[in-house]
Amino acid sequence: MAGLVKLTIDDQAVEAPAGTLVIEAARRAGIEIPSFCYYQGLTLQGACRMCLVEVEKSPKLLTSCTLPVAEGMVVRTQTPQVKQARQAMLELLLTNHPLDCPVCDKGGECELQDMTLAYGAGQSRFLEIKQHVDERQWSPVVYYDRPRCILCFRCVRICNEGMGVNALGIVSRGGLSEIAPNRGDRLECDECGMCIDICPVGALTSGMYRYKTRPWEMNHVGTICTHCADGCKTTLGVCHNQIMRGNNRDRSGINGEFLCIKGRYCADFVDHPERLRTPLMRTERGLEPVSWARALAAVAAKFQEVKARNGLMGVIGSNHTTNEENYYLQKFARQGLGTGHIDHHRTGDLAGLMAHLRTPALLASTADLYTSKAILIVASDLAQQHPFLSFQVRANYRHHQAHVYTVAYGPVREDQYAVRSLRIQPGEELAGIESLRADLMKEPELVILFGDGVQGEAVPRLVEFGASLAIPVRYLCLLDYSNSRGALEMGLLPDPQGGMNLEEMLACTDLDALWVVGANPLKNHKLAARNAFLVVQELFLTETAQAAGVVLPAASAYEKSGTVTNLCGEVQHLKPAVALAGPKTDLDIFRLLASELGLELGPWTPQKISPMAVGGAVQSARDTLFTSGTLGRYSKTLNSVSEGPGGLYRG
Ligand code: SF4
Ligand code: SF4
Ligand code: SF4
Ligand code: FES
Repeated sequence: MAGLVKLTIDDQAVEAPAGTLVIEAARRAGIEIPSFCYYQGLTLQGACRMCLVEVEKSPKLLTSCTLPVAEGMVVRTQTPQVKQARQAMLELLLTNHPLDCPVCDKGGECELQDMTLAYGAGQSRFLEIKQHVDERQWSPVVYYDRPRCILCFRCVRICNEGMGVNALGIVSRGGLSEIAPNRGDRLECDECGMCIDICPVGALTSGMYRYKTRPWEMNHVGTICTHCADGCKTTLGVCHNQIMRGNNRDRSGINGEFLCIKGRYCADFVDHPERLRTPLMRTERGLEPVSWARALAAVAAKFQEVKARNGLMGVIGSNHTTNEENYYLQKFARQGLGTGHIDHHRTGDLAGLMAHLRTPALLASTADLYTSKAILIVASDLAQQHPFLSFQVRANYRHHQAHVYTVAYGPVREDQYAVRSLRIQPGEELAGIESLRADLMKEPELVILFGDGVQGEAVPRLVEFGASLAIPVRYLCLLDYSNSRGALEMGLLPDPQGGMNLEEMLACTDLDALWVVGANPLKNHKLAARNAFLVVQELFLTETAQAAGVVLPAASAYEKSGTVTNLCGEVQHLKPAVALAGPKTDLDIFRLLASELGLELGPWTPQKISPMAVGGAVQSARDTLFTSGTLGRYSKTLNSVSEGPGGLYRG
């Protein structure tokens, strides 16, 4: 194969593409070279010198993390000289290190512990008293403990390069060097916790997790973040039925190690004291707790009655519930209740896009955002609304020099490195894109991302524009929530013949019953049919639940199995992390109601339904990094940061 370089590492013949670093070539050949500052995907630092190796004909040991492979190179990683160098480096790192492993958050998953065990000398020659510096709290999320810091600068690089936030730097020199936050003694940033996660030791710890448990006391449950439509895998650490944190250190999942504050720390809505635990039914005294049997019987009786007299029944589903639940709900509505008035809160015009694309193959994947040579972002602030996509686009720019174009209503983080940035007013989206035509036509390929500023008539015009560029173009419609796409694909849409959409149902004064599952339409709308029987399945007593005749407490995404589809169409599995006494999954509630009604709905395996381009308002909730629809209100973590200037921080 052209470009392959042959070398020897520890007497093993190794081949690696030209330009590969020796540390990587060794790892790929199964030879581990210890490292602290080297981190795949970030710039090289050459700071810790843990990765020293012997290279034939070189008079000195060399850092393998900065050394590219060369033809005929002979590398040795286990010589006495190398071992002695590693011991010396560890001894130096431990000079002022407090060795408080028994109480340190990182204990049990600390790279310094592991390295000391594997490569350390077992004793230190330093007898001096260790320097102590008090721990500092930089934000509700981030704490810094200087004596534990080994100055590998991974945190600085992930924040600057990976996140594009530039919130961390280095102050002072030599032994006095330390990491410093961007606002002197505090941080103003995304609070993503990426710096905490990437820190090899316990120098950075999180306000959400610190001192609560130890890594080995937790079950680690890999599931999908429930906050936005990007679909990050999050591995939830669970101790005593409580979610302590999320992370993705093993880089499994489409997001690699990336998580934003919501996927990492904001599962705390799950055990919020206001979670609904028992069904509620309206009496003359208001909503009162009742048994499941009574609540289900009341709902079934009312549905039966409305159906028998051919009354008007509406169903509003969720963009958080699973594909299986969404599929079953629309089937229940159509086959069981005989209604075509079905919808959900649509946050982007994906149905319109799918109707106008020649083939679904023209829809982009999350991986495309990392590989495509050019990306056009229209009407969206990715860093606020789609943190993972923003991370992915930035990584593409850093690693492959992708050309990024932005057409936005205000400054966005991608402007920092975009080849062209346009400011527009709402309504000027297509004109803005058109003005980029000459530049875009020179690109070899393009992915166009667009938010709710492009919908209805504008969608076919956007697709027409893409086709007229005469280059391969793929599209990504930006949706808001974890299963927005699944809700659409599973058919939570009005029947094309006469089915009312969400706004029409709410405005219809003749509606007899409305069944709302995992949605809060009355937050922004009024229900015109004042006497309609309203049934709500929810986690909390939302505005909609407060107006209901019957409220059924539902399980959250972190308490159930099933699948969700992210905005790119990637279908992923949810795994239950905790169990809460009281609520039931929406699917269980559907099954119980079906049996109460004597309905035989047949197999409920979801099949993908081709969504038709049905009309109706498409409106993003414009969540920011520190809001998350209804769930955000019940996350203590999100509320602890949203007050600060960080909520408006734009990098
Ligand atoms: S929490 Fe995230 S944004 Fe804030 S300093 Fe750490 S890496 Fe940077
Ligand atoms: S705080 Fe952690 S990641 Fe940052 S330089 Fe210190 S040891 Fe490295
Ligand atoms: S980017 Fe979206 S899916 Fe990923 S962790 Fe953040 S909120 Fe969750
Ligand atoms: S890993 Fe090579 S110098 Fe730090």
